[in-house]
Amino acid sequence: MPRSICFATSEFTPFAKTGGLGDVAAALSAHLHREGHDVRPFLPLYASLDRGGRDFQPVPFLQGIPLQMGRFQLTFSVFTTQLEGGLLVYFVHCPALYGRESVYGSDWDEYLRFGALCRAVIESCQRMGWAPDVFHCNDWHTALLPLYLRTVYAWDRLFERSRTVLTLHNLGYQGVFPRQALGDLELEAHRELFYQEDLQAGRINFLKTGLLYASVVTTVSRTYASEIQTAEQGMGLEGLLRRRRDSLLGIVNGVDYQEWSPEKDPLIPHSFSAEDLAGKAKNKQALQERMGLQVEPKLPLLAIVSRLTAQKGFDLLFDTLAPVLARGRAQLVALGTGEDRYADFLSWIAKTFPGRAAFHHGYSNELAHQIEAAADIFLMPSRYEPCGLNQMYSLRYGTVPIVRRTGGLADTVELYDPEADTGTGFVFDHFTPVGMGWALDFALRTYHQDPEAWKRLQIRGMQRDFSWQRQGKEYERLYDLLAA
Ligand code: ADP
Ligand code: GLC
Repeated sequence: MPRSICFATSEFTPFAKTGGLGDVAAALSAHLHREGHDVRPFLPLYASLDRGGRDFQPVPFLQGIPLQMGRFQLTFSVFTTQLEGGLLVYFVHCPALYGRESVYGSDWDEYLRFGALCRAVIESCQRMGWAPDVFHCNDWHTALLPLYLRTVYAWDRLFERSRTVLTLHNLGYQGVFPRQALGDLELEAHRELFYQEDLQAGRINFLKTGLLYASVVTTVSRTYASEIQTAEQGMGLEGLLRRRRDSLLGIVNGVDYQEWSPEKDPLIPHSFSAEDLAGKAKNKQALQERMGLQVEPKLPLLAIVSRLTAQKGFDLLFDTLAPVLARGRAQLVALGTGEDRYADFLSWIAKTFPGRAAFHHGYSNELAHQIEAAADIFLMPSRYEPCGLNQMYSLRYGTVPIVRRTGGLADTVELYDPEADTGTGFVFDHFTPVGMGWALDFALRTYHQDPEAWKRLQIRGMQRDFSWQRQGKEYERLYDLLAA
């Protein structure tokens, strides 16, 4: 049955993306729209928004709307643009909050930027006269929305039947702010609804508050859903998550194969498929030339495309990567931005092994596609990984992933078994250089010694189906359950 879903998010590809949340917001919304649901995504109209030459129309009845946030009298307007499939995306325009260089920041008013987003979304629905079956919130940025519905907007019968979903894409970011923020968030009068221990310690936590008040909590893989109930991975929220385990659900992310398919990817020089891998070798040569690597068709090309943060586990490469490059067993291409210690390490590797290793320190969607298309092995040794998309993109492009058995990586990559000739990648258990070294050596040995087995391994991965067509059904079932 068609449902109405208000999708509140801080990222939406291609307009605003820093990681997988943008991809998931866009692809899941597009999928739900195709399936006939009335889905309306809302995100801020950041100054840095990539408009891609699209026309943005003001929504006539959503202009100049006053929004009192404690000491601040704000005004917002809503703009919309229509995507190819017909989906309308809504943008909250409020230059005082979103007229900044980047999507996220470290300014003092970060809480205000996203608290106001939650309220602007609700106020827009009111003025649309629209009562969504479900408000689907994502990460800490929109986690206050369920609480706003039951406090500041409790008077509005329009939302009487609306339920809320909070999807956890990453517990590493919780939105923790000084307690004084309550006034500006218009929630001082409702302080008893916040986690009292936090208040006593002088802070509030957006994500925790969302966990308390969302009708249902989901996260983006089954394994992560159980991991976050433990002290190792719960990041302080494990107790609360355990208490909510009956309404905590793991739904593995899907892949947008419109964007990520080597058969029809306009960003790669040569298309290819599981039936014909010839184009992949040509992409490898093209990338080696572009990145200043020696053109070596027979040398395995290792790849990294990532935010460079502790989450991604690249510490494990500090000891394991250089020996492999020094012995001439592989080449490396890396793309990423983030923390200096990883960027410095990758720059050092590139400088130490010219022609054998290259690092592009930056963000480039085009290069990300070309790397997936060209590389032989993808490195994702994450410390933790709620879902991860790059390993699934890699599988589709015949780029065999090396992953740590955690979160969504554990749910989507199966360990290669040479005897049974099964599996899709190399999976190691322990977050240690020894674990990483074992997987790297296993992969390189297989590549060098058994090209036929390697090809079968690639093809098995390419044939796996992680489409939203499949994964989206679980969200649809959840919305049905909530609406009933
Ligand atoms: P996370 O959301 O934790 O960063 P995911 O694997 O879910 O991890 O998603 C990462 C997304 O961001 C992928 O689409 C990946 O291609 C993209 N990405 C990350 N870093 C870069 C970069 N430097 N340039 C281009 N794309 C990047
Ligand atoms: C987060 C996670 C990543 C996940 C993405 C989309 O950024 O780190 O694992 O794939 O969100 O859900």
